[in-house]
Amino acid sequence: MDLAIIVVLVGLAGVTGSPTVTIRPEAAPADRPAHTNTVLQMTKKTVFGQETVLIAKEAVEDVMATGELNPSHYPAQRAAKVIQHYLNTRYGSPYRLVFMRKVHSGHAEDVAGPGRKYRLEISVQEFLRNITEKCSAEVLFPRGEKPGSPEVQASCEELRNINIKAQEEALYQQYKRNQSLLSAQYLPDSHGHIDPDMEPFWHLGIVAASFVMLKESTENTLYNVAQVANVTQLESENDQLKFDYIVLLHEMVSQEILHWKLLFTWSPSEGVKVLHMEQLPRCHCEKPPNTN
Ligand SMILES: *[C@@H]1O[C@H](CO)[C@@H](O)[C@H](O)[C@H]1NC(C)=O
Ligand SMILES: *[C@@H]1O[C@H](CO)[C@@H](O)[C@H](O)[C@H]1NC(C)=O
Ligand SMILES: *[C@@H]1O[C@H](CO)[C@@H](O)[C@H](O)[C@H]1NC(C)=O
Repeated sequence: MDLAIIVVLVGLAGVTGSPTVTIRPEAAPADRPAHTNTVLQMTKKTVFGQETVLIAKEAVEDVMATGELNPSHYPAQRAAKVIQHYLNTRYGSPYRLVFMRKVHSGHAEDVAGPGRKYRLEISVQEFLRNITEKCSAEVLFPRGEKPGSPEVQASCEELRNINIKAQEEALYQQYKRNQSLLSAQYLPDSHGHIDPDMEPFWHLGIVAASFVMLKESTENTLYNVAQVANVTQLESENDQLKFDYIVLLHEMVSQEILHWKLLFTWSPSEGVKVLHMEQLPRCHCEKPPNTN
C-alpha cells in the first residue's frame, strides 16, 4: 500500500466552485475516453484512502433528475453515498466499515415538506471483509431557507450482525489500560501507507467523519474522507475511550478539502458518540503533507 494520493482535475475550463455545479458523468466530452467509469471507480477507492484519489469534474446546469434515475449517474450515486455515511454512523466501528458498492435502481421525486426523496436499491459491502448485502433505502433531502441534514432510512441487518466483539474488546482493553495516551498523525501518510497498528484508528476516523458527512450532505455534494491529520487520545471518562481528531474531508463537487475537528468517544458497547464537531477555518489549517 505504498501509493501516493494523487489529485487529478479534469475539465475545469470555465468552471467555478459554485454550488449550482453538479457532476454529470454523462456530460463528459467524447475526447475524454473512459472518463465516466474511471471517475466512479476511483471515487470509490478514495473512500477509505488506501489507494489513489482521482477527481474529475464537469460543469453542467443544475437540473435535478426526477423519476427513474440512471443508477450509474451522479444523482443516484450521491444519494447512495449519503446512505453509506448513515450506515457508518449506525454500524461503524474500528472493525466494521460500510462501503457503497453499487446502485441497482433509483427513483427521485419532489415531496411536500418541501424536499426531495430518493428511493434506492443498493448493494453495500463491509469494507474489511468480503460481505455484500443488498438493501433498500430512502434519502430525504429537506429544502428551504435552512435545509437540515438528509434523513435516511435503511435496513442492512446482515452487516450489523457481523461479529466483531472480540477484536473491539481487545482494542478497547489495550488503549484503556495503557498508561500513555495515543497520539498519531497522517493516517494514511503521503505515500498512502498506514501502520497496521493504526488501521483501527483510521477506521474510527472514517466513522466519526461520517457524522459530519451525513450532516453536511446535500443533493449537490459528494464527500469522502481524504486523511486523518491528527489523532489525540484524551483521558477516559465513564469507561469510554475519548479522542480528539482532525480529519480532512474531500468534497468532490466543489473540489474543496475541508478540515474538521471532532471530539468523540468510543467503546465496544456504546460505539462512536460525537461530542463536538467543528469546521476549522481554512487559513489556520495545515496542508496535507505532499512531500517527504
Ligand atoms: C467475494 O465474494 C464473491 C461472492 O461471494 C466472490 O465471487 C469473490 O471472488 C470474493 N472476492 C474475494 C476477493 O474474496
Ligand atoms: C502503550 O502506549 C505506548 C505509546 O503509545 C506504546 O508504545 C505501547 O506499545 C503501548 N502498549 C500497549 C500494550 O499497547
Ligand atoms: C494534534 O492535536 C492535539 C490536540 O488538538 C494538539 O495538541 C497537537 O499539537 C496536534 N498535533 C499536531 C502534530 O498537529
